[in-house]
Amino acid sequence: MRFTVAIDGPAAAGKGTVSRAIAERFGFAHLDTGLLYRAVGAKVLAGADPVAAARDLRPEDLEAGDLRTQAVAEAASKVAAIPQVRAALVDFQRSFARREGGAVLDGRDIGTVICPEAEVKLFITASAKERARRRWLELREKGADVTLEQVLAEVEARDARDRERATAPLEIAPDAVVIDTSEMDIEQAVAAAAAHVEQRLKAT
Ligand code: DC
Repeated sequence: MRFTVAIDGPAAAGKGTVSRAIAERFGFAHLDTGLLYRAVGAKVLAGADPVAAARDLRPEDLEAGDLRTQAVAEAASKVAAIPQVRAALVDFQRSFARREGGAVLDGRDIGTVICPEAEVKLFITASAKERARRRWLELREKGADVTLEQVLAEVEARDARDRERATAPLEIAPDAVVIDTSEMDIEQAVAAAAAHVEQRLKAT
């Protein structure tokens, strides 16, 4: 069976958590496509050329330990604006999406550019304020010394860059279902997403 669930949305809206839960519940493979851009960003921080780094990317690069840092997120958002970087990563994502047994891909352009034919398209979002609050709590738990205002500014800057870039900007596919998690907990967000997948699976 080939069945693709495309999950897009801004940072810290709950996309990653929902994607992992959906993959687990339905037995689908999961690809966090942000990791591709983070892996390229990390190589650029280490001195590599972004386009060459994207073309030479290997699956094991996604397992590098330090891809979750703020510096790497920043670098990822910058390399993600380069059309040749995005182009170099398309084939890998498309073959992952059409693998046997079903796949969940989460990112910014999955339903619009990578898998316009996806069986299910979800756009998971939340207000910038709420997303900043969640990210701030996470960072504080890890012992980071940041203020809510700093995190909100960072979230808004990254949103703006992801939305305003010319190639594959963050936008809602016309046929995507929007799930706003501002007032939901994780269980509610997962239940809302799972209901759409179930409905579509029944129809195929
Ligand atoms: O989801 P994330 O925070 O790991 O993504 C890191 C950066 O990569 C983000 O600023 C936008 C970019 N990205 C993208 O342009 N397209 C994707 N499909 C996934 C991520």
